[in-house]
Amino acid sequence: MAHQQTELELQAAQMIPTADEVAGIFAVQTHDHKKSDAQYAHVMDNLGFGIDFTDYMAHATWTEPEGWHNKVIEPYGPLSLDPGSSVLHYGQEVFEGLKAYRHADGSIWTFRPSYNAVRLNYSSGRLAIPELPVDDFLASIVDLIRMDQRWVPEGEGTSLYLRPFIIASESFLGVRAASRYEYVVIASPSGPYFAHGFQPIDVWVDQKYHRAGPGGMGDAKTGGNYAASLLPKIEAHHHGFDEVMFLDAQTNSNVDELGGMNVFIVMADGSVKTPKLTGNILPGGTRSSIIQFLEDERIAVEEATINIDWLVDGLRSGEVKEVFACGTAAVVTAIGRIAGENFDITIPTGDMTRHVYDELTSIQLGKAEDRFGWLYKISE
Ligand SMILES: Cc1ncc(COP(=O)(O)O)c(C=O)c1O
Repeated sequence: MAHQQTELELQAAQMIPTADEVAGIFAVQTHDHKKSDAQYAHVMDNLGFGIDFTDYMAHATWTEPEGWHNKVIEPYGPLSLDPGSSVLHYGQEVFEGLKAYRHADGSIWTFRPSYNAVRLNYSSGRLAIPELPVDDFLASIVDLIRMDQRWVPEGEGTSLYLRPFIIASESFLGVRAASRYEYVVIASPSGPYFAHGFQPIDVWVDQKYHRAGPGGMGDAKTGGNYAASLLPKIEAHHHGFDEVMFLDAQTNSNVDELGGMNVFIVMADGSVKTPKLTGNILPGGTRSSIIQFLEDERIAVEEATINIDWLVDGLRSGEVKEVFACGTAAVVTAIGRIAGENFDITIPTGDMTRHVYDELTSIQLGKAEDRFGWLYKISE
């Protein structure tokens, strides 16, 4: 059955203002403490992932009854937080991740920023955090990148990674929703997420821990889900694996996702499957894009329950040919080995994984036609 657009996809597909229309909502506070030319050159010549940050950050505050106010682009630097701030105790926070790309002509673009804006609000809803107007989200991105333009790298696999987040900053002890929040966007010039580039990763299928459960926060992008994934990841590292594949908490037998990426499998007949959104899985923008462009290419994509025993049998019999993971940070990454308590299978990287990577990055970098209107121009 063809993909049914999700509520997030439908909302994200609505018309949004252009960058020029929202520019200036965040007032710029210029400063003289920018990184020196030598520091700048060092960062840009040695791009890691999420290690170095730019000269500016976006910041706004929410209080009752003012709502979101004090919208500024200010010098990048430490936040001043009272130790009683409730995010530090109860984890009331949400975040997003998106990238700005420099095209061959020097112009700067982002990819489906409205999807991130809408998903941030979805996550906020689950965490009892006030919504941020989509125009404010877009403006924070536009105004920040325009001040930090020099930090958008050029070259294959590079980008300016943007991390918008909201934290509860009211100082009190007691379990209730806060009455004050900070919205912040920081930016980090980045190379590939995995240091070894387009290399397959080894994945451990965890049957002991879960990152999320029914009625929990699995489909919200909030720190607690990632905190829950750290110990399993450390244990997987000890056994020589790069990432953890989590199974559903209810039956402990169906594939949910990796700690920070969605999963796809490719069948021998060329069709593709991905775990359906159950409420425990983050509805990835990359997942959504891949489903849409593959269907547009007449490749059958099924959102299904993927039983781990069925997957293992399929890999052994050859019915399943490829497994890959996807997300904004890591783009598209082949899974080259998948192992659990009683199986250990090596999977060759196949043509579909490479095709999906090429197709997605070609659209993002303006090398292929933007046939879904996903690119958003920040500056010439
Ligand atoms: C748990 C999890 N799943 C999937 C994804 C992929 O989402 P997206 O493609 O929107 O980056 C991410 C990354 O944001 C994630 O953290």
